[in-house]
Amino acid sequence: MFQRHFHAQDTDLIIASHPKTGTTWLKSLLFATVNRFNQPKNESALLKHHPHELVYRLENNVYGEAFEYPRPQHLNELPSPRLLNTHMPYNSLPGSIMSSGCRVLYISRNPLDTVVSFYYFMLDLLKKMVHEKQFINTSLEDFFEDFYNGRSVHGPFFEHVLGYWKASLEHPDKLLFLKYEDLKKDPVNHVKKLAEFVGVPFSPQEESEGVIQDIIQLCSIKNLKELEVNKSGVFNKYYDKKSYFRKGEIGDGIQQLAPSMVERMNKLMEEKLEGTGLSF
Ligand code: A3P
Repeated sequence: MFQRHFHAQDTDLIIASHPKTGTTWLKSLLFATVNRFNQPKNESALLKHHPHELVYRLENNVYGEAFEYPRPQHLNELPSPRLLNTHMPYNSLPGSIMSSGCRVLYISRNPLDTVVSFYYFMLDLLKKMVHEKQFINTSLEDFFEDFYNGRSVHGPFFEHVLGYWKASLEHPDKLLFLKYEDLKKDPVNHVKKLAEFVGVPFSPQEESEGVIQDIIQLCSIKNLKELEVNKSGVFNKYYDKKSYFRKGEIGDGIQQLAPSMVERMNKLMEEKLEGTGLSF
């Protein structure tokens, strides 16, 4: 549905990602950056809405059946620029995304942290399904094995990342490639980069007034996690709103996975990323 029916507009800003790489964070940063002129920090819609209610996921929320809201017609009601999101691999994107003037922001993350984050998210989700007898018990080891072998809902992790990485090298004005770890280590410069990329750079006055720091603070996991709107409630019966905010740390994968799993993943990463210029 999404592939066949979605027509990107030149002004669209589309966040693309593999699940559990920081999509929710990037949604909030993009939303706060783009809307900073009409929504000062104390009036941000992020204080009253979960980031996933402000930046729709195209294949699920809009064109899929998974969520009760919104529908494709709602896309026409969104203010410009429309902020949208997809987990689709690069090669599966609807053609208009690359042929139009819209911009794509991709967020990636170290696979060790991604797989652990994904496991806990899925475990939470699957446990909720236990009442409907759809619960499939899975261990971190089994989940890792599937992820390692490329059996993942949105396709193999490395192919997902490399599809967007290569496209970002070919079309740097069209596709901004971000890493979760870089955002964590240097949020100010990355939020500045993001704002420039989407055409709303921070003015020297905004910089001196600390607008960038305010956005970073508003979108910090510590802040978002404590907001009433993100603490309770579910999307589509099973998806706890709070499950999108867990630890938000770098290095949880190494802590949680057995050394042999870490070693195997690092070896695979070395093979897959060799000669690409990308590293985690
Ligand atoms: P962890 O499970 O490692 O804590 P996604 O949004 O793509 O589903 O990714 C979820 C991951 O991003 C989770 O990682 C979550 O805790 C983390 N996350 C969510 N909001 C964040 C924020 N504002 N800052 C940093 N990390 C955040």
